[in-house]
Amino acid sequence: MWKSFARLLAAICALFLLISCGTAGGSHDRGTTSKNDSAKKERVVTDESAKEKEQAQNDENNQSSRTETNGDQKAITVVNNPSSILVLVNKTHKLPDGYAPKDLVYPNVRFPYKEKIEKRKLRAVAAHALEEMFAAADRAGITLYGESGYRSYDRQVAIYEQNVKTHGKDKAAMVSAYPGTSEHQTGLAIDITSADMLSAGDPLTAKFGETKAGKWVAANAYRFGFIIRYPKGKENITGYEYEPWHIRYVGKKAAKYIHDHNITLEQYVEADKVNK
Ligand code: DAL
Ligand code: ZN
Repeated sequence: MWKSFARLLAAICALFLLISCGTAGGSHDRGTTSKNDSAKKERVVTDESAKEKEQAQNDENNQSSRTETNGDQKAITVVNNPSSILVLVNKTHKLPDGYAPKDLVYPNVRFPYKEKIEKRKLRAVAAHALEEMFAAADRAGITLYGESGYRSYDRQVAIYEQNVKTHGKDKAAMVSAYPGTSEHQTGLAIDITSADMLSAGDPLTAKFGETKAGKWVAANAYRFGFIIRYPKGKENITGYEYEPWHIRYVGKKAAKYIHDHNITLEQYVEADKVNK
């Protein structure tokens, strides 16, 4: 009787020990495994998002993609980074069909007209930089005006065709971009002028570069992330006549480098690729 009772007691104790150890151990392991799993998952997600960021950065800086032909049957590259602030758009690099920036806003600066129309717009980053630049010009006693910022593809078609009618194809190609190859379509470029040029009825001519305002813009635009995109003496590189009024936002780092080294965006982008 006593023996059976002792055996039963021993069996109950053994069972109890087995259950309690198993549960504790199991729950501890499960907890550790679960924590490890989520830490691993978190790490994978973090690693992946870092990679995505890196990839996005590479994509942004990677200037070329596929090649098409333009209106003159010349080879032209369709850029794969249209929304990069460093996008190169010129006679050999066009924007993808249908491209329109997603973050266009109205910069809070002077324009010589009241209407809130499309050409007043710029991408947000360029609009804010323009506001800072105009405020600095005001402090220097220079009254700048915005003239023409963003242009849709269709608007550029109208402008280009009008220029061909007025000046003929060769001259038109030196002063206005073939549709799809205008920086104005990126929302990062704007034509600006001054009160004096407007009073003279001549807002966008090479004369602007000789005025106090034009000189101030050439000397200071880089401090706000802008460059004079079509400088004098670089026509063979940019493909366009001198346009002291056309400024392009590229960010402060690139703008300073381009300004200090007296180069064009074409040269900067090429150098940047080589230095990678
Ligand atoms: N005037 C510049 C080149 C443009 O049409 O975009
Ligand atoms: Zn322009």
